[in-house]
Amino acid sequence: MFSCYSTRARLPLSRVTRPNSRTYSTKAAGSKNWNITGAFVVSLALGTGATLWPRDKSKAPHLEATITQPLVAEKVLSREAVTSLISQHAYSISTDSIPGVVKYDGAQVASNQPCEDAFFHGQFPAPWQHNKQWMAWAVLDGHAGWQTSKLLETKLLPYVRERLTQLQDQYGQGPAPTHVVQDAITQGFLNLDTSIMKAAEESAASDEPLQIKAGKLAPAFAGSCALLSLFDPATSTLHVACTGDSRAVLGQQRPDGSWEAIPLSVDQTGRNAQEISRLQKEHPGEDNIVKGGRVLGLMVSRAFGDSRWKWPLEVQQEMSRRYYGPAPLAPRYDVRTPPYLTAEPVVTSTRIDYSRPTFLIMATDGLWDNMSSQQAVDVTGRWLEWRHGKEMPRQLRPAFADLDFDFGDFGSKLEEGFVEERETREDKNAAVHLVRNSLGGAHHELLAGRLAFRPPFSRNVRDDITVQVVVFQDHAAA
Ligand SMILES: *[C@@H]1O[C@H](CO)[C@@H](O)[C@H](O)[C@H]1NC(C)=O
Ligand SMILES: *[C@@H]1O[C@H](CO)[C@@H](O)[C@H](O)[C@H]1NC(C)=O
Repeated sequence: MFSCYSTRARLPLSRVTRPNSRTYSTKAAGSKNWNITGAFVVSLALGTGATLWPRDKSKAPHLEATITQPLVAEKVLSREAVTSLISQHAYSISTDSIPGVVKYDGAQVASNQPCEDAFFHGQFPAPWQHNKQWMAWAVLDGHAGWQTSKLLETKLLPYVRERLTQLQDQYGQGPAPTHVVQDAITQGFLNLDTSIMKAAEESAASDEPLQIKAGKLAPAFAGSCALLSLFDPATSTLHVACTGDSRAVLGQQRPDGSWEAIPLSVDQTGRNAQEISRLQKEHPGEDNIVKGGRVLGLMVSRAFGDSRWKWPLEVQQEMSRRYYGPAPLAPRYDVRTPPYLTAEPVVTSTRIDYSRPTFLIMATDGLWDNMSSQQAVDVTGRWLEWRHGKEMPRQLRPAFADLDFDFGDFGSKLEEGFVEERETREDKNAAVHLVRNSLGGAHHELLAGRLAFRPPFSRNVRDDITVQVVVFQDHAAA
């Protein structure tokens, strides 16, 4: 009994303070500086807990107050509370020093806890032009955990930059041809995913402590989509690299004032015909890889991490047994010729035409779940006009103010996705504006009701949502 307790109590202490637990226990026993754990160990040993237990601890809390509290607090989200909930992670950045980019806005609303989405944005030294800056924006949609997306948040750009910088050797002050830039970005993505998988495999095979292994395995066990946009002001070219089902769309105003939605990425899921035929070509004879819009059960057809779709079955089994990794795909799915998943992005490159008002929307599928690309572009285009004073703020229709409803009304009495009748313009941040309108817009009860549901229940009415909106304009013309 004693040895059992003392071992448990000593272990963490010895890790923190001393490499050798025996040294510690000798010292504790002979020292006057006993701490609680030390005292606990010794008091158990002596059987005199009462006298040795430290006395200077906090008082027991009074519990009477809880008796008068209601079973569940009735909290109502005011309009202000809703606004602060959807804007709590929002940012608005003006980019005077970057030719071609006026400003950008971002926002994130979590459904999972911790949020599985991540993002980054900012400038970085141009790969081949001294004293010039490029811009980068990314939204990263994690699944089965936040660890992969969190890693991409800091590592994706460095890996891509490394490959871009290497082009200097060949192209000097540039610009490098577009397809060469696209290849470099692709290599950066692939190198990073290889590093993630290798770090996990090597750590598992090493004699590193289990706690180090846990950290290196997690980004391989979990998965993430990545959508990265790079803007080269010198050529006014926007490169968009997409792995997974986050989506980038360009909004451009036509001469007649309407807004055109130009897709810069195509969702890579088990419903994408091109992806399905690519998989069939790569795995001839395996006809059941894509079923019900899923790739061996997974919604996306490309991703970082997601080791189960990349490792041979024996490795999956061993990782599951030794490190409590996710349950192997077999026997539920037939794993014959992995990998079934790649982090290779599809890259598009677009020259920004400054003669027309133009903006970029990048968002994780949480936004696109309830709003189409065209709707998002229209909503943002009208918002821009409103911000420039060309249009009056939209009147809230009283009918939407206090409607009593529940989610069972979706599809019959109530539209679940975005509808123009509920469109509202009240936010100064374009990304917050999109989030608000995708979740209910002017229908306060719908919006507040959706936000009031917390994880894990919130996941049925909204996903993690991350949005960035970039406004382009030729500085010379501004
Ligand atoms: C416990 O006491 C030992 C000996 O005084 C000290 O080195 C150690 O830092 C203490 N541990 C904690 C967790 O306070
Ligand atoms: C709206 O989004 C939710 C949550 O992501 C999703 O379950 C639902 O199918 C979407 N509804 C429509 C009409 O697109």
